Amino acid sequence: MSSTYTYMATVVPGLEDVVMSEVTAKLPGAWIQTKLRGRILFTTDCSWAELKRLRCIDNLYLHIAWLTIGPHKAHLVDIVSGIEEIPFHQFPYLCQAKPGDTAIVSASRSGHHTFSRFDAAKAALQGLINAHDFTAGTTKAHDFNFRLDIIDNEGLFSLKLTDATFRFRGMRAFSRAALRPPIAHALVWLSNPQADDVFLDPFCGSGTIPIERANYGALSITGSDISSDAVSAARANAPQTVTIRQMDACNLKAIPSESVTTIVTNLPWGKQITPNLEIDTLYTLFLQEARRVLVPHGRAIMLTDQQEALERAGELAKLRCRPLYTASLHGSLPTVFLLEHGS
Ligand SMILES: C[S@@+](CC[C@H](N)C(=O)[O-])C[C@H]1O[C@@H](n2cnc3c(N)ncnc32)[C@H](O)[C@@H]1O
Repeated sequence: MSSTYTYMATVVPGLEDVVMSEVTAKLPGAWIQTKLRGRILFTTDCSWAELKRLRCIDNLYLHIAWLTIGPHKAHLVDIVSGIEEIPFHQFPYLCQAKPGDTAIVSASRSGHHTFSRFDAAKAALQGLINAHDFTAGTTKAHDFNFRLDIIDNEGLFSLKLTDATFRFRGMRAFSRAALRPPIAHALVWLSNPQADDVFLDPFCGSGTIPIERANYGALSITGSDISSDAVSAARANAPQTVTIRQMDACNLKAIPSESVTTIVTNLPWGKQITPNLEIDTLYTLFLQEARRVLVPHGRAIMLTDQQEALERAGELAKLRCRPLYTASLHGSLPTVFLLEHGS
């Protein structure tokens, strides 16, 4: 019988509900424990192979303990002793640690404390050295990577299980303004992928969204972009199941009317990309085309921080435009919208 453990998944703040939906859909019997800003704690007996099917998350951690931590520097000893007392032999991965293995600890802190997150990380490392025979590692060279998230008087102590290759999917090439793959995946997940989808991302850039869509079956998956550089990058990145074309999203004449079931796209917005057209004109022309190519029951998921421009364009195109989630992304607050044929 497999054992049950609690894990912490990290996600861009604002998209926590998307991760909760992915966890419960992909991990049978998983139980959501807590939703925090940018973090979801869940309990499951699923294997590592099953856990790796979570694609909307940035990183996965094994949850080890909740520590009680006072607000002052004098309370840093509580972190040291709290970590000294943890029965590491009861946890997977940790039970395999050998004396002298190297460890690092990163910490975050929210609330009122007279110590810094660096003080907290140092105290946690001290606990690991004192009682669990670890030695200090470096960011570049370590055997174990721990994390301590302090929220007021509680500390969430966990072990990092994933590295950058998990969220960057093997470090492929990304174009300017490319979405991180887990965010692209969250948009795909919100489109409710089905095996008979005819899928289109008409602003595909380096192809992140159609490539994430290729994790699920479909009748066809197409990404297109106006830029020849973006098209070359996307073609180099995409698997064979994804078709990449050069097209102007405001003129999709190569795509028959009522032939696309699902559009998922990261629109040009913010300061990332300056399109040739004003954003209002771009959105208006594109949404007319989106409405034309979508089947009547089709749906579109779009990310932008230009809510008013999108809503104006949606009204003109007779597409109902509903905000779903607002994400906190590199200092911007883009919203995920669902667009469907209006009556
Ligand atoms: C925000 S980026 C999309 C990034 C993409 N999701 C990724 O992860 O790489 C917007 C893209 O829209 C493209 N674009 C701008 N105007 C366009 C238009 N009229 N038709 C098609 N693509 C356009 C740009 O070339 C750029 O690649």
